This record gives sequence, structure tokens and C-alpha cells, in this order.
Amino acid sequence: MSISITLTLNGVAREIVLDDTRVTLLDLLRERLALPGTKKGCDRGQCGACTVLVNGRRVNSCLTLVATLDGAEITTVEGLAEGGELHPVQSAFIENDGFQCGYCTPGQIMSAVGLIAEGHAGEDLERIREGMSGNLCRCAAYHGITLAVREATRRMAAEDKGEVA
Ligand code: FES
Ligand code: FES
Repeated sequence: MSISITLTLNGVAREIVLDDTRVTLLDLLRERLALPGTKKGCDRGQCGACTVLVNGRRVNSCLTLVATLDGAEITTVEGLAEGGELHPVQSAFIENDGFQCGYCTPGQIMSAVGLIAEGHAGEDLERIREGMSGNLCRCAAYHGITLAVREATRRMAAEDKGEVA
């Protein structure tokens, strides 16, 4: 039996018909909707490469069944830039050399956006590492990633106050 759900994906309303209710959000994004920015690493909730935002919260899309998302608002890395302008987290990753392999980068960026929105990022790099601990990085970029999250947090806080960062 197929089911139909509606969701908003990167600001666009979509109707999704599922023949198999076991389809994960990760497979839907990559295999049916041609949005390959979200990466498949472990496919079992351990690496964070597949992180997207669902209703503004970070989730592992490999562990999220599409059938549970009726009415949800989903943002992937493809939906972060606005009007050709990179999101502050994306810019900060570039400026701070926050990616190296590139494969885990979209998940790291989405997780950073979620962490900042939760109000759990800040000046303390240790706290940022803790907040990003669900996203694995085994290369030398990790220091750059934490610096980028701190920088983006500062910039977004300044923008919120109407200051130029
Ligand atoms: S692919 Fe989802 S956590 Fe690794
Ligand atoms: S950015 Fe991929 S392992 Fe570090």
C-alpha cells in the first residue's frame, strides 16, 4: 500500500508518494530527489555525514523514515544559500579552511547551523567540539571546523544585533 505525504524541502512544498514506508530521508534526498549534497557515510547513525535540519533541528537523515515527516520542514545543504549569498556558516568554513576531504563537510555545516540555532555554540572551542561530536572528522580540518563555527556564531550574533560583523 502506498502512502502520500507533504513536506517542505528547502522552501518548496513537495508531495511524496511512498510505495515502501521504510524509505529513509537520506535515500529519498539522494536517490529520488537528486540532492546529493547530503552524504551517506555509515548509514547507521554514527558519523553525521547525513545531517540535515528537520523543523530546524539537526537529525541523522539515515535514521529518519520519510513516512514520519508529514508536514515537516526540511533543509539540506543545497537550501542554505539565499539569493546567491552563502550562509554565514558556509562562508566561515571557506575562510577558516574548515573542509579537507569534503565528504563530511555538508553534514558538519548543517550540524553547525543547528548548533548555533540551538544557542549552544559560543566562544569556547571545547564546547563547540562537544556540540559537534556527532559529526566525525578524521582529517586535519577539524581545528578549522571549530574555528569556523565560532566565527559564524560571532557573525550571526552581530547580524542579529544589526552590527556589521
Ligand atoms: S550516514 Fe547517517 S550518521 Fe552516518
Ligand atoms: S573534513 Fe572530512 S575527514 Fe575531516
